[in-house]
Amino acid sequence: MQSEQDVIKQVAPYSAHRIVPGGERFLKNCWYVAAWSNEIERKPFPTTLLNEPVVLFRQEDGTPVALEDRCPHRRVPLSAGTVTGDAIKCAYHGMTFNGKGSCIYAPAQEKIPAAANIKSYPVVERHTLVWIWMGDPALADEKAIPYDVVDTLDHPEWRHKGQRRHLKCSYRLLMDNLTDMLHLAYVHTSTIGNPAIEANANKMKLDRGDNFVRVERWMVDQPPPPGFVAAAGFTGNVDRWHVSNYRPPSYFRLDLGAAPAGTGAPEGKIDPSKALVRHNINCITPETETTCHYFWAESNRNWQRDPSITEKIYDVVLEAFEEDTEILELQQRTININPNAREVHLAVDAPGVQVRNILRRRIEEELAAESRPQSAST
Ligand code: FES
Ligand SMILES: [Fe+2]
Repeated sequence: MQSEQDVIKQVAPYSAHRIVPGGERFLKNCWYVAAWSNEIERKPFPTTLLNEPVVLFRQEDGTPVALEDRCPHRRVPLSAGTVTGDAIKCAYHGMTFNGKGSCIYAPAQEKIPAAANIKSYPVVERHTLVWIWMGDPALADEKAIPYDVVDTLDHPEWRHKGQRRHLKCSYRLLMDNLTDMLHLAYVHTSTIGNPAIEANANKMKLDRGDNFVRVERWMVDQPPPPGFVAAAGFTGNVDRWHVSNYRPPSYFRLDLGAAPAGTGAPEGKIDPSKALVRHNINCITPETETTCHYFWAESNRNWQRDPSITEKIYDVVLEAFEEDTEILELQQRTININPNAREVHLAVDAPGVQVRNILRRRIEEELAAESRPQSAST
């Protein structure tokens, strides 16, 4: 069993994540969220994911597809063109590509150039999200979607409201933020934090495996933060829980809630008719080294008791995320000045260090697999 201090010593500085000369390497053979389902229509939807230009659209039967957003003729984004049938036509000279990325029309000539195809990405739609596989299509496996992070988005006993945000910071800074509970006592004092957070910051149960980190924290018999009072109407002290579940590369399901103090919540007796029971769902997709797409949602089991609670919790958390955005973008600006500047760790950073280590190991494994010589038969 590693001590907290051992874990902290293992962590690499922020700059050490830049393990490929000339740019950051992202984990590629995994699913990322490309968009919320309701964002993808028949018309082209342009986005940049992992530094790659991508266009998404729905085919006639409603199936979403994702293609490289760059015409191979003169590199105009295909998203400036039009979707006809199951194909997209370039706005500049009309080259046309089907959902597999094959060129099906080349203007003013009969023969389609052999090199005219573009990259197509495996895409699936699950739990109100459109997922994309940015790595080797042959390895795309739907079982690798982090279902346990997102499955309350369309569960009949839960209700959710979510949002897409664009952050001018590395996805890694947002990942640090989502494993860091201490900042609630400083950044979120008017919403989801209060002094009880700092007093309990180092009381945590930390579990980790090759592909998960779980951090459980309890604040027993403490005043509820302002946002909990606003959303759920607590009148006295509460037993509050905060469980953070990480899945690589960049998924977090926070199991959050509070119950009137002394009603047995720490022993597992949680009654949704009296307690606030929430999942805060977070899916982060790198856009570039220093920007990211953030798909988040608040899901709760209290909507039957109070139909307006989903909206109320969403409003509180949105305000909190706006507070986070301000700090994270300031942090990125300072990091950009000197990405190699040193960084120290506090004891409370142990979960974030574990998350960084898992992601780094997965990227290193992927790089090692790519550099292995192919066998003669392949
Ligand atoms: S740039 Fe697309 S067809 Fe010419
Ligand atoms: Fe925060």
